[in-house]
Amino acid sequence: MFHYEARRDLLKNNSLSLPSKALHFIALDCAPDIAEVFKRFPVSEDNLLVLGKGSNLILPPVLEHYVLHFAKRAPEEVVIKEQSHRDILIRVPAGVIWDDFVRYCVQQNWHGLENLSLIPGSVGAAPIQNIGAYGVEVADHLVSVEVFNVPGRSFETLSPEQCRFAYRDSLFKQNPGRYIIHSVNFRLSKTPDFKLAYGELSALQHQPDLCLDDVRQAVIGARTAKLPDPDVLPNAGSFFKNPVVSASVAEQLSRQYPGLIRYPQADGQEKLAAGWLIERAGWKGYRNECVGVHDRQALVLINHHHGTQNDVLALAKEIQLSISKMFGLNLDIEPVIISSRSQS
Ligand code: EPU
Repeated sequence: MFHYEARRDLLKNNSLSLPSKALHFIALDCAPDIAEVFKRFPVSEDNLLVLGKGSNLILPPVLEHYVLHFAKRAPEEVVIKEQSHRDILIRVPAGVIWDDFVRYCVQQNWHGLENLSLIPGSVGAAPIQNIGAYGVEVADHLVSVEVFNVPGRSFETLSPEQCRFAYRDSLFKQNPGRYIIHSVNFRLSKTPDFKLAYGELSALQHQPDLCLDDVRQAVIGARTAKLPDPDVLPNAGSFFKNPVVSASVAEQLSRQYPGLIRYPQADGQEKLAAGWLIERAGWKGYRNECVGVHDRQALVLINHHHGTQNDVLALAKEIQLSISKMFGLNLDIEPVIISSRSQS
């Protein structure tokens, strides 16, 4: 069963706590509800927004869209589709909270997603920006994504190749409104497969009898030390992507700015730590009357006091300009910016 609500306040449905009202809000229980909603309302690719926990969105004051939201589901609703002594294939409803799911996997002794502990958001949102942390991306363990294809009005299952996953990017991020993700299928390992190369986890490499929960707790410790809790300091995680440049540009910048943090990529390019660039440009801990830059991780923007979409985007623009002037680099905004008007 779905439930329609007009003029629904979304202040508590977005982690930046931006004031926002949805003219049409529809809460869904399960996948078959989607087809019913399309029969009853004039929803289309151009006027649809699927809202999970709202932890990666920059919402406007008024949303003319039809906002669809899957009701919260318990991680115990995970369905086991197949398993062997080596691994397990599971189907997870979109409405499960991501970190409830990771905690459940750790409890079941299913390996693979522990480095993604404590990432805010829902399971259905995870593939959209291909969430990643500490050397793991959700795409590494995902076998398929079950969607409703909005223009085609049909249910489909998309392979990872069809999802076109890249660094904080996917088919879904590139085509907002075209797909409604209702379930995600993962293959997880029953035997240890720890990824501990990332700085803050490397101390675990020599720990005897390392278990999944040790890794989860180390990730939780690393994240809480730097990343603010949205319930206390409203934020959308990393606000910019780390820029990817050629090795020669990275080399040249390194000479000019010793200490520049570089991560060589498989294709010969280099990813630069945007947080370091923003800190070096003097923004860390900056705040105006409503919004600011986190004082422990300069990649995170904070809504301190009733800031709106415009306030957040104005600060982002100032930061982008200053990074462009100082380093000659473009910073791309990572969360999805939603405009007030739907396209229709
Ligand atoms: N750094 C600074 N100053 C800062 C922030 C960072 O010097 O203000 C330096 C750090 O000391 C470190 C390097 O920059 O040497 C990288 O920082 P960090 O380890 O915090 O990671 P990040 O590159 O800033 C990325 C992801 C995070 C993810 C972490 C850990 C992006 C856009 N962000 O951040 O993801 O948790 O790595 O894997 O790729 C998110 O996407 O919302 C997110 C939080």
